[in-house]
Amino acid sequence: MYRLAHFSDPHLGPLPRPSPWQLMSKRITGYVNWRRNRGKTFSDLFLNALMHDLHEQQADHVALTGDLVNIALPEETHLAGVWLRRIGKAEQISLVPGNHDAYTGAGLKRALHEWRPYMLSDGGTGDPEFPYLRRRGPLAIIGCSSAIATLPFMATGMFLAAQAEATAQLLHQTQDSFRVVLIHHPPFPNATPFHKRLIGASKFREMIADCGAELVLHGHTHIHSYNEIAGPGGDIPVIGVPSASNGPGHKSPAGCYNLFAIKGEPGHWQINWQKRGVLDAQGTIGPVGEPLVL
Ligand SMILES: [Fe+2]
Ligand SMILES: [Fe+2]
Repeated sequence: MYRLAHFSDPHLGPLPRPSPWQLMSKRITGYVNWRRNRGKTFSDLFLNALMHDLHEQQADHVALTGDLVNIALPEETHLAGVWLRRIGKAEQISLVPGNHDAYTGAGLKRALHEWRPYMLSDGGTGDPEFPYLRRRGPLAIIGCSSAIATLPFMATGMFLAAQAEATAQLLHQTQDSFRVVLIHHPPFPNATPFHKRLIGASKFREMIADCGAELVLHGHTHIHSYNEIAGPGGDIPVIGVPSASNGPGHKSPAGCYNLFAIKGEPGHWQINWQKRGVLDAQGTIGPVGEPLVL
């Protein structure tokens, strides 16, 4: 049995005070949003409690599906790197970037550099390239990037043909494994409002329909979600998760992570899925709902 944890969208705070020139870009909208909303609902208390519980559960590996920061200020990205190293080693955590990590083009470049060990293919050197492939126990973890810098008020992601082709190759070459695909933006139809959608989602679905996968994990929506997209031999589960930093009593659900216990062999995998999350304002963590077998 192999245990994989999945959490997402910590949007680490508090946000350092940006200089006026740093706000002369799309960042101004994100900064206002953070001051008005996220800074009030997100808290270290819940994130730290969730990370403590995750450590206690002793998962074999952790998937983190992006949006570590808010407006990709250099200091935010640097502190997110410090935080990453505190929660675990790069061998134990596989990360893909989100749209907030790519708030500006330079911000994404900086994030890929600062967080690089967590996004490298096995044996990879240099800066991360997507898709990456990491083999861990029975898993083939394939990390895709949908993170792009966008115009103000847009939070779209992009999955282009070149990445689809490279990912298809990895999916073919890892059919002997339990293939987990990580992508920040959800790839199923009508997953988000128009301005937050994944451009190229149909390419992603065509690739899965052709090559198959055992599990697709995403972030971005900040809610509990279970969907399916078609694979060559049946439907493939596509699972999202609330922001790991969110407190209870707000519009979006309280912080949570997914814990998957995976066993079986190619063609006969079984996934036991338990959600663990924030249960109250004190940051008590426990099971959320009943475990499910997929
Ligand atoms: Fe997010
Ligand atoms: Fe996002």
